[in-house]
Amino acid sequence: MFLVDARITGKRLVARDMYVITMHAPPIASTVLPGQFVNIGWSPGPMLRRPFSVYRVDGERIEIVLKAVGVGTAQLLSMTQGDRVSCLGPLGHGFEFGAGPRSAVLVSGGLGVASMTLAARQAASLGIRVTWVHGARTKEDLCSESDGDDLIWATDDGSKGVKGTAVAAAPDADLVLACGPNRMLAAVAARWPEAQVAVETYMGCGTGVCLGCAVPLKRGGYDRACREGPVYRASDIDWATLPSHLSYAATP
Ligand SMILES: Cc1cc2nc3c(=O)[nH]c(=O)nc-3n(C[C@H](O)[C@H](O)[C@H](O)COP(=O)(O)OP(=O)(O)OC[C@H]3O[C@@H](n4cnc5c(N)ncnc54)[C@H](O)[C@@H]3O)c2cc1C
Ligand code: FES
Repeated sequence: MFLVDARITGKRLVARDMYVITMHAPPIASTVLPGQFVNIGWSPGPMLRRPFSVYRVDGERIEIVLKAVGVGTAQLLSMTQGDRVSCLGPLGHGFEFGAGPRSAVLVSGGLGVASMTLAARQAASLGIRVTWVHGARTKEDLCSESDGDDLIWATDDGSKGVKGTAVAAAPDADLVLACGPNRMLAAVAARWPEAQVAVETYMGCGTGVCLGCAVPLKRGGYDRACREGPVYRASDIDWATLPSHLSYAATP
C-alpha cells in the first residue's frame, strides 16, 4: 500500500455525466490488481477519503471513473489538470482467476465498469475468452469504453442492445465476475452462487481499522469490505441485510 501525492493529468467523458479521471501515481499503477481500489483525499475537501475502483492503468498513471453523486465526487470532478490529490492504495482484495477457466463473463451495471477493465485485461492475458455484458438505463448511460472478445449491451429501455438487465442478458461461463448496484449483485448471486462480486459499502479509513465498511455474511458476522473485500463469492454475502440503496454503480 502506498500513499501518493498524485497529480491529475486528464479527464474525459465516457457516458452521460460519467468521467474518467487520470492521475500520476507510479507505485499504485505498477502494483494494482483487478478489483482493488484507491482511497482519495484532497484539501480543502471532505474529512473522510473517498474510495474508487482503479479502472485502468496507463504506464505510470491510474484512472478512476465516476459521476457526481455528492459533495466529494463533485469536488473531484471540478479539479483540473495539475491539481493534486492524496491517493492511498492499492487497497482491498480483488478478483481471483484460479486455475484453468476457459471462459469468463464480466457483468457490469452503470459505473460498475469501474472494476471490470483491469479484470478483462487480466483474463485475456491468461488466455481466457471474455464476454463482457454491460448494462445501464439507456444507451446514453452506457460506458463507451467497454471491450472484450464479445461485448453485449443491455439497456432497461431497449435503446441499445438487449432490452432488460445485464444479468438476464449474460451467458454462462466458467468464471463470472460482476460489479454494479447491490441489487444487481443479489441477482447475480441467485443465478451464479460461485460468482465473484465487488460490493458497495460506506467506507472510512479503507485500511481495516474503523470497521465502517461492514459486509454482513451468510454464515453470520461481518467482514470488512476494505480488507477481506470488496470482492466476495456471491453466496457468502447476506444480501437481505446488505444495504441495497447503495448504488454508486447505478444510473440515478
Ligand atoms: C470499494 C469501493 C469502490 C468504489 N468505486 C467507485 C468508482 O469506481 N466510481 C464511483 O463513482 N464510485 C465508487 N464508489 C462509491 C464512491 O466512493 C461514493 O459514491 C463516494 O464516496 C460518494 O462521495 P460523495 O462525497 O460524492 O457523496 P456523499 O456526499 O458522501 O454522499 C452522496 C450520496 O452518495 C451515497 N454514498 C456515499 N458513499 C457511498 C458509497 N460508498 N457507495 C455508494 N453510495 C455512497 C450517500 O448515501 C449519498 O446518498 C466506490 C465505493 C467503494 C466502497
Ligand atoms: S473502511 Fe475502515 S475498516 Fe474498512
